Amino acid sequence: MLFKKSIATLVNEAQESGEGTLKRTLSSGGLVALGVGAIVGAGLFSLTGIAAAENAGPAVTLSFVIAAIGCALAGLCYAEFAAMIPVAGSAYTYSYATMGEAVAWIIGWDLVLEYALGAATVASSWSQYFNEFLQEFNINIPPEFLHGPWEGGIVNLPAIFIVCLLSLLLIRGTQESSLVNNILVVVKVAVVLIFVALGWSFINPANHEPFIPANEGEELVKAGKLGFFDFFTSDYFGAYGISGIMRGAGVVFFAFIGFDAVSTAAQEAKNPQKGMPIGIIGSLVICTVLYMLFSFVLTGLANYTTFAGDAKPVATAFSRTGYTFLNTALIVAILTGYTSVMLVMLLGQSRVFYTMSKDGLLPKFFSDLSKRQTPWKTNLIFMVFVSLFAGLVPVADLGHMVSIGTLFAFCLVCIGVIVLRKTNPLAVRPFRTPFVPVVPILGVIVCIALMASLPIESWERLAIWMVIGMVIYFLYGKRHSKIRIDVKSHNENTTEP
Ligand code: ALA
Repeated sequence: MLFKKSIATLVNEAQESGEGTLKRTLSSGGLVALGVGAIVGAGLFSLTGIAAAENAGPAVTLSFVIAAIGCALAGLCYAEFAAMIPVAGSAYTYSYATMGEAVAWIIGWDLVLEYALGAATVASSWSQYFNEFLQEFNINIPPEFLHGPWEGGIVNLPAIFIVCLLSLLLIRGTQESSLVNNILVVVKVAVVLIFVALGWSFINPANHEPFIPANEGEELVKAGKLGFFDFFTSDYFGAYGISGIMRGAGVVFFAFIGFDAVSTAAQEAKNPQKGMPIGIIGSLVICTVLYMLFSFVLTGLANYTTFAGDAKPVATAFSRTGYTFLNTALIVAILTGYTSVMLVMLLGQSRVFYTMSKDGLLPKFFSDLSKRQTPWKTNLIFMVFVSLFAGLVPVADLGHMVSIGTLFAFCLVCIGVIVLRKTNPLAVRPFRTPFVPVVPILGVIVCIALMASLPIESWERLAIWMVIGMVIYFLYGKRHSKIRIDVKSHNENTTEP
């Protein structure tokens, strides 16, 4: 038997907790701003350089386009769910209503990779820009306290600092106002535009040659000297060439994460049917254009090989322009812009665990609220968890984990749309994904292709994470699930004479 939550129950629960009573105030433009605010961050300002250096070369610009296509397809599926089931918990909640408790658990557990490790990734990159900022004032953090042990250091202290600071802020209960968000959007977009406008005339066309660096393995496959499978599992795969553009897309996919924030605002949209697709696709289009311009200029200012292992490519590239006096301003803007991304992620994480705990799948303390109505115990636990990753693990490895985990969740959401259209065709859908099942199926295909292009270690780590999750589910979640307990007691009552 599949233990599912009914949509009516979900919407009722939301209303009880006050979530269903949000005002419909967001216009389409507001939704686009919300999306851009949640999207632009470390993916662009950090991973672009690394993806160019290690995978795609200057063709990282094309990687952005491929990643954007996957996001747009999945985004349209998110929007249908979000408008229909406007409650906290995002993909976790959607799957509870469609594919049952076990799949919901898998997604909820998987979302830790998106939110918690996402915050760790941004924190890790934040630290490199923060260090750059301090250096402007001749303050030097010893290098061993800027990198974890896998990068020859001890621990990334500034990354831990920012994670703790923001977690404590969340525990105090911050309400990010849309005014603050709008200011941050302007700041972030301004950084990109200023970088592009000022950097453009300093582009050295030689840096864009070859646009797609050759991949020796691909040449061998073409010549029939290497089988495709052997190539796929070799170190050649993903190191430049077409496979490099694909792996680059898997890496910079991180830069688009956050647009699902738009879908979670479905209940606040004035007109979800129109606002959702405009908000999601609009913010994706704007970001894609910005990202393409940005990456073109970045790889034009310095040779792509310069960015190997460099988590602050903006500073590196900008030093090649004649405007270095703007360095500090640019870095401050980047640091500020990161804050909103980290807050959204840490908040998203605590909300998912809060909802899972309410459903009985996780211990009750995850949903204990403080006087200020924040799930402070969850926030504290994730403060430690996120700090550990941010402090110890290299930014690129973190980014890969986040990408693969999120892509996996996207696949399940796409499948969920098709399932729910079959199992519950009459449900009210304020927004309908166009061309079902074509759009969700294409979404799954593109997301799997992006996952497949990521390094094998990310798959292994995803598998280990999921195995740990399943063990916890069978030892705890399944036994304490509220729905199971309710169904069991209902059955007992109805079978009594
Ligand atoms: N898209 C967000 C970023 O790049 C997660 O930081």
